Amino acid sequence: SKGIIIAIDGPAAAGKSTIAKRIAEKLNFTYIDTGAMYRALTHKALQLGIDMDSDRDLSKLLEETDIQLQPNRDGQAVIIDGKDCTEVIRSQEVTANVSQVAAHTNVRKMMVAKQRDLAAGIGVVMDGRDIGTAVLPNADLKIFMTASVEERADRRYIENQRRGIQTSLAQLIADIKERDRADSEREVSPLKQAEDAILLDTTSLSIEEVADQVIELAEKRM
Ligand code: C5P
Repeated sequence: SKGIIIAIDGPAAAGKSTIAKRIAEKLNFTYIDTGAMYRALTHKALQLGIDMDSDRDLSKLLEETDIQLQPNRDGQAVIIDGKDCTEVIRSQEVTANVSQVAAHTNVRKMMVAKQRDLAAGIGVVMDGRDIGTAVLPNADLKIFMTASVEERADRRYIENQRRGIQTSLAQLIADIKERDRADSEREVSPLKQAEDAILLDTTSLSIEEVADQVIELAEKRM
């Protein structure tokens, strides 16, 4: 079987990365978490006090930053300038600022170039917001994964509890809604279902059920 390109897009906390990791493991493909790349830049910008409104300053910072996505047992480690930042890029502070960073034209242009390089010539599962529409428009399989905002907040709540992070369900719902709004309303490659993407509403499905459905679709294209 040959390596194909699978693009998974959708709103925040829809289970994209959980599913993408499973599929990559099952098919022996490379998993690429593009959200982690925007989070990595946001984390470094926060640490250095870079102006989140400045595309120019953020682009310059990105040019000077080494972001590595390293496959590991849990899926993927995120290494920024040689330092393991896998956990810290999921912080509330990074989450609250990442959409602003990701809205900039040149930042996106640089990220998209990196993402295309990472996917060149191999079997990949890439997840994000603009993979099927902008990064890999020729992907062999495009999935647009959604779930109700309540379900997504519930899942994130359980995940946070497991990781020892305190947040109320109401706060999670508000945060997810705001991030979806920002990501959908931005001018450059907004979050949007590609015309040729398959819509997968996971609200009442288990992880196994979703993964099985996507793998079945992928195998038809291999
Ligand atoms: O997927 P995750 O929730 O980690 O993504 C964090 C943020 O990064 C998103 O809310 C969005 O603002 C940005 N992002 C993006 N394009 C992608 C992936 C993520 O704009 N392909």
